[in-house]
Amino acid sequence: MNKLLYRLVYISRNEIAGDDETVRREIEQILATSRVKNPVAHISGALMFNAGCFAQVLEGSHDEIVNSFERIQCDPRHSHVVVLTFETMAERRFSNWSMAYLGTDSKASAKFGDIMQQSGFNAALLKGDRIFDLLNEHLLEAESTVF
Ligand SMILES: Cc1cc2nc3c(=O)[nH]c(=O)nc-3n(C[C@H](O)[C@H](O)[C@H](O)COP(=O)(O)O)c2cc1C
Repeated sequence: MNKLLYRLVYISRNEIAGDDETVRREIEQILATSRVKNPVAHISGALMFNAGCFAQVLEGSHDEIVNSFERIQCDPRHSHVVVLTFETMAERRFSNWSMAYLGTDSKASAKFGDIMQQSGFNAALLKGDRIFDLLNEHLLEAESTVF
């Protein structure tokens, strides 16, 4: 059995329709589900949302990540899912979070919005490391996020 730890970073486009409050409630729902399911699968990670796009980091075993990601990528609440990184790692970076969240009012997601706009929303121009570094830099901010 493959016991190595893996990290998957992807971006996607929001498909949740409605006003900001509707989007916020739906994301809250996603986080609530993630925070129940991810610990069972020993998955940790972080989710970021801005400029109509999501970026998510998932950390865990190969098989658990593949299982969860198969479910996540079929979710109609987002589309155009593009994997930027799927590689082994020495240790978890988000071990304290079953799913940290950085919303539109966070510094990290403001930068994420800028990066997305600069790339012209072209996933080929985006680097998983850059998204990961952004989340990594803002761990403390994530820790204090309410939902
Ligand atoms: C952007 C986004 C990120 C998500 N992240 C997770 C996650 O980390 N863990 C998880 O269990 N579900 C996540 N979900 C929700 C899943 O897609 C799915 O709805 C949920 O796991 C329930 O699946 P089930 O109805 O097959 O049990 C995410 C959904 C979206 C749109």
